[in-house]
Amino acid sequence: MSRAPEIHVLPDETAVATEIADFLAWSCADTLTRRPLFHLVLSGGSTPKALFHVLASPAWRTKLDWSRVRVYFADERAVPLDHADSNYGAARAALFAPLNLPDAHISRIQGERPAADAAHDYEQMIRKNLQDGSSNDLAFDVILLGIGNDGHTASLFPGGAELDERTRLVVESASPSGIRSRITMTYPLLNRGRVVLFHVVGVSKAAMVQRVIDLAGGAPPVPAARIAPTNGRLLWYLDEPAAAQLAATRRQRPSDEA
Ligand code: 6PG
Repeated sequence: MSRAPEIHVLPDETAVATEIADFLAWSCADTLTRRPLFHLVLSGGSTPKALFHVLASPAWRTKLDWSRVRVYFADERAVPLDHADSNYGAARAALFAPLNLPDAHISRIQGERPAADAAHDYEQMIRKNLQDGSSNDLAFDVILLGIGNDGHTASLFPGGAELDERTRLVVESASPSGIRSRITMTYPLLNRGRVVLFHVVGVSKAAMVQRVIDLAGGAPPVPAARIAPTNGRLLWYLDEPAAAQLAATRRQRPSDEA
């Protein structure tokens, strides 16, 4: 039985990015007291750029022990890494390069290869890196996700066959717009996360945020509504515009801060 979402509403995009950076710093330090590495999954799209900017800034760049952080991607577009639409390319420019992170610490989805092959090999790499025989097998420490205006998350799109995947951890999928061919983590992997954190800003997302949080995703439930960590925490970090249609009772009050 998954736990109720923990919803944090901040005034604006910069405040959201700063709060998420603060959470990542805490979560990384806490994890490293118990395990050798902090396994972090990045979302694609444009929203994370504000977070990358904070994490790479002089005030924040040493707040995570990046030498013990391993970075993965929730999804990728089927394009070469230097393509303008590459999620890896965006993260490399805004975060990895400014922090001088070693390539060996970043697990890139090889978007330049046939999507099915790239998906298969990414899954094998994840199984090798995270399979430790514990009850928390294949559990990333923090998974960052965004949400599209159609309710997609990662590259899990409404009506896609990937929504019914029960065994594979990474599959190919198809976007209805933009770069059609995608590679994406699936619910069996995403819902193993110790923490799954939705990072959503902007008034354009307000209706979908309400549908997912207040209406359990609507009928049929949109893909983002089927993110329900089995044993982990589900966090939403929203700016005021993105939270504008949420029921007041849903919004975490500062006194509720854990
Ligand atoms: C991608 C993302 C996707 C993204 C949403 C929101 O590869 O596009 O993984 O799921 O998070 O589409 O995108 P924006 O942050 O650009 O609004």
